[in-house]
Amino acid sequence: MSSLSFSDILNKASVFKNKNVLSPHYYPPEMLYRDHELRTLMELIAPAFKGVKPNNLFIYGNSGCGKTAAVKLVLQKIKAEENTRVFTTYMNCRVYDSRYKVIQKLVGDFIIELPRTGHSMATIYEKLLDWIEDDDQGKNLIVVLDEIDAVKDLDDLVYTLTRTNDDLKKGSISVIGISNRIDFKKKLDARSKSSLCEKELVFHSYNASQLSGILEDRIKASFNDGAILHGALNLASAIAASENGDVRYALSLLLWAGELADSKKLKVVTEKEVEDARKKADEDKSFELVSGLPQHQQLVLYALCLSDSEAYSKLVEENGDKYYFSGHVYEKYKSICRKTKVEPRSSRWYREYLHDLESLGLITTIESGKGVRGHATLICPGFDPNKIRVIIEKRILGD
Ligand SMILES: Nc1ncnc2c1ncn2[C@@H]1O[C@H](COP(=O)(O)OP(=O)(O)OP(=O)(O)O)[C@@H](O)[C@H]1O
Ligand SMILES: [Mg+2]
Repeated sequence: MSSLSFSDILNKASVFKNKNVLSPHYYPPEMLYRDHELRTLMELIAPAFKGVKPNNLFIYGNSGCGKTAAVKLVLQKIKAEENTRVFTTYMNCRVYDSRYKVIQKLVGDFIIELPRTGHSMATIYEKLLDWIEDDDQGKNLIVVLDEIDAVKDLDDLVYTLTRTNDDLKKGSISVIGISNRIDFKKKLDARSKSSLCEKELVFHSYNASQLSGILEDRIKASFNDGAILHGALNLASAIAASENGDVRYALSLLLWAGELADSKKLKVVTEKEVEDARKKADEDKSFELVSGLPQHQQLVLYALCLSDSEAYSKLVEENGDKYYFSGHVYEKYKSICRKTKVEPRSSRWYREYLHDLESLGLITTIESGKGVRGHATLICPGFDPNKIRVIIEKRILGD
């Protein structure tokens, strides 16, 4: 050990040239196959440079299909214009998850002298208006709200940001909302839906050949020449294509496959490493999802998984999604609590848990229309119930 130096570690043979390029935090300076989406975004924003308010925009599409990457690229282009009228701000609503936090972040980004905390909503809102108007022609602010479905009081937020334009004598605020939960729009009230979704842009999923083009490009920058066999690249693309074209997933498969190859002291990554990386990814993803949840939410999730094997509590919707009666899942939850000697919580708490699980994207709930047992709440799992059941039993309940 005493003779071990950092250069020994750093000079160890590796299939990687630059691992950072595979990181989920890396955004490429160019995008493939998204010319149409980039152009649409730029056309939408362009009026701001002439002092005209751009329409609000709602962007949606599956996970890992380049929504965030495309918007970030366009924001860079706006900044490069060095225009004094158009201002942009980007925030991820998993962090800024309420109207207050979003408005506070806007003020904090642009108005430095205001201390960060302890102000009423009305005060910070007024500050924001003053700042936008404090210019000959007013400023045009573009607010990107990524993962917008995470905002708890979204109707209020959209209403406030939209109303700002009525209160402003000059300048404007436009919102670009991004989500991978296509059905979340249904949750908005009619007024905020129509203001947020003035324009909509869908990012369609990549097919296997597009995925392989994107990966090939990224491999050139991250792996040594020839370190990924063609079969391994094709397999990673095919797996990601079956996961709704998720590039982030494909990149993490390559990263893990490369790390496996390094640990086995291989010079090339083969299909075997990609296959093993997929197994690890599957298990890790599901485990990550449930292991961080509080106990009662895990139990509710488990009850939902078990309901899958009971035909009476299951409805099959026309589009193939399975929905379960919330009442049945609650009964199941209580019976699991009794078996595991945990005090079950009241139905009021249970509804809270459903709400939390929904905001994490683990379930979707809808109210059944009239005719389906009055007005019942129906729950649709956002995951494969069987996989989650196995994870909970093996790694959490320790059966
Ligand atoms: N067309 C593309 N060309 C190059 N890289 C891409 C392309 N599309 C996606 N990527 C890469 O894939 C990864 C995921 O993309 P991104 O974060 O934009 O997905 P997303 O649509 O925002 O997903 P989510 O809904 O989960 O947030 C990023 O590393 C991004 O650089
Ligand atoms: Mg994103």
